[in-house]
Amino acid sequence: MQTYQAPDARGFFGRHGGTYVSETLIPALQELAQAYAEAKQDPAFWAAFRHDLAHYVGRPSPVYHAEHLSRKLGGAQIWLKREDLNHTGAHKVNNTIGQALLAQRMGKKRVIAETGAGQHGVASATVAARFGMACHVYMGADDIRRQAPNVFRMKLLGAQVVSVDSGSRTLKDAMNEAMREWVARVDDTFYIIGTAAGPAPYPEMVRDFQCVIGQEAKEQMLAAIGRQPDVAVACVGGGSNAIGLFYPYIEESGVRLVGVEAGGRGVETPDHAAPISSGAPLGVLHGFRSYLMQDAHGQVLGTHSVSAGLDYPGIGPEHSHLADIGRVEYQAANDDAALEAFDLLCRYEGIIPALESSHALAWAVAEAPKMDKEQVILVNLSGRGDKDINTVAKLKGIEL
Ligand SMILES: Cc1ncc(COP(=O)(O)O)c(C=O)c1O
Repeated sequence: MQTYQAPDARGFFGRHGGTYVSETLIPALQELAQAYAEAKQDPAFWAAFRHDLAHYVGRPSPVYHAEHLSRKLGGAQIWLKREDLNHTGAHKVNNTIGQALLAQRMGKKRVIAETGAGQHGVASATVAARFGMACHVYMGADDIRRQAPNVFRMKLLGAQVVSVDSGSRTLKDAMNEAMREWVARVDDTFYIIGTAAGPAPYPEMVRDFQCVIGQEAKEQMLAAIGRQPDVAVACVGGGSNAIGLFYPYIEESGVRLVGVEAGGRGVETPDHAAPISSGAPLGVLHGFRSYLMQDAHGQVLGTHSVSAGLDYPGIGPEHSHLADIGRVEYQAANDDAALEAFDLLCRYEGIIPALESSHALAWAVAEAPKMDKEQVILVNLSGRGDKDINTVAKLKGIEL
């Protein structure tokens, strides 16, 4: 295994990451990097972060033994890290609290965000309301349709939702628009990126805010079963919930780490969002270099996933590095497998998971029966599925 690099001074994780933006954005990114470097050294910043995670988000989120589901599958014990129980219903809020505190420290009065599933949009609108900032959320027109409850939630929270009609009308295009807007208004605006992607210092910063997931899980699993799980698994869109779980485990060589990409209709078809599993080449998108779904001319390919939050052609650079050095395995779960796992968790545990998280569950559902009853799989249940009930009903042919 090559050694782990996390990241160098130019924001590269091995050959991935960096800062590929127009000159007009460089001063804004330098200002941000400087502000984050200072905040990172300031115990008061982390005290404020931990305070909000406890008293606003409701952390720590518990780990839960899905005994009934484990028994049904007849193999390894499945445990869930319950990020679905966070205020706003997903892991996204861990990061938005951190970035909002940084925005406040930098004197910014307005935040913008992109969103796919709407969870990051809701989490951004939530912290904007809490910190008294204006908020604009960029969202692809298709996602606005797929995630109507979250769109209404953002509006209730006082945010403006900006519909993006360009390109594939999904997350990729929303992020393009948000970056364009940021260039035009860097003086008063802070761009809250919702995943561990984008130009440096975002991937590192988002990871640092999300790794509370893995830090808690390590303590909780030790307390619950006296050891660490055999496998830790998480779904990967841009990669924030996964890197949040994995990062504290990287040095724990006994813990197998598995990232699950969106296999859509199959990685052998064009309809998926699985850059690493499908062997996509390196490319540049949204200011960073990583594995990227693109054609021979470097044009970004269309993607498909039943879950809006995984419907992204790239992947955070740290994941690409972890794939290169072999520390994390990346596999794909198809739409059908995710939907089956979604149903199983509803029926056997009384928990409605997000469709994104259902991809990580699908891996556990497939692999647990092949493992011993004493073995343990920890699944990051990154969010709850209330936002997805319209999508699931439609797929089942039920009218709500
Ligand atoms: C519940 C949930 N899980 C996972 C994701 C994927 O994002 P990431 O890979 O950054 O964790 C999303 C994105 O919207 C989400 O809402």
